[in-house]
Amino acid sequence: MSNETMLTRRGLFMNIGILFNSLVAVALAVPIVRFLFSSVSRERRDDYLAWVPLGSVNEFPEGETRLATFRNPYVMPTDGATVNTACWVRRIGGDQFQVFAVNCAHLGCPVRWFPQSGLFMCPCHGGVYYRDGSRASGPPERGLFAYPYKVESGLILIRAGELPTPGASAALAGKKSTCA
Ligand code: FES
Repeated sequence: MSNETMLTRRGLFMNIGILFNSLVAVALAVPIVRFLFSSVSRERRDDYLAWVPLGSVNEFPEGETRLATFRNPYVMPTDGATVNTACWVRRIGGDQFQVFAVNCAHLGCPVRWFPQSGLFMCPCHGGVYYRDGSRASGPPERGLFAYPYKVESGLILIRAGELPTPGASAALAGKKSTCA
């Protein structure tokens, strides 16, 4: 085998190696570049959100807090009974409500309402909230999360489909959805 043939073969393998490495580099770079530009290019989709009724306004006496359930508008075939979501509805008076997520603002355990003391209490680590959802004591750093709501034709409806956390679409769109 001549030297010229060896060099040619070496060059061929070198080129194949460079090509292969380039392909690997591109394959690795695509998700990284997509991640870096995702906040700019991503379209904020909120078509999984919908206004869902909790019931007639008359089912919620003024000055009281009641548990209500609704069907999550975003349903997967495997969701089963988990599509039925609970929330606490406080009717302040007239058409003025507060609708709280049942999940504690600490680590998400379901809070319970105790009308005798006028407090929401979390069984997990002792988080306590006042009747208006604001933090009273314990590890939570903030109040309960609240759903945006509206009253139409005698029904109370909430904007459901995602938990009303500060990063939720409704909150980012400037709608009131949280409780301090
Ligand atoms: S989850 Fe409620 S206090 Fe920790």
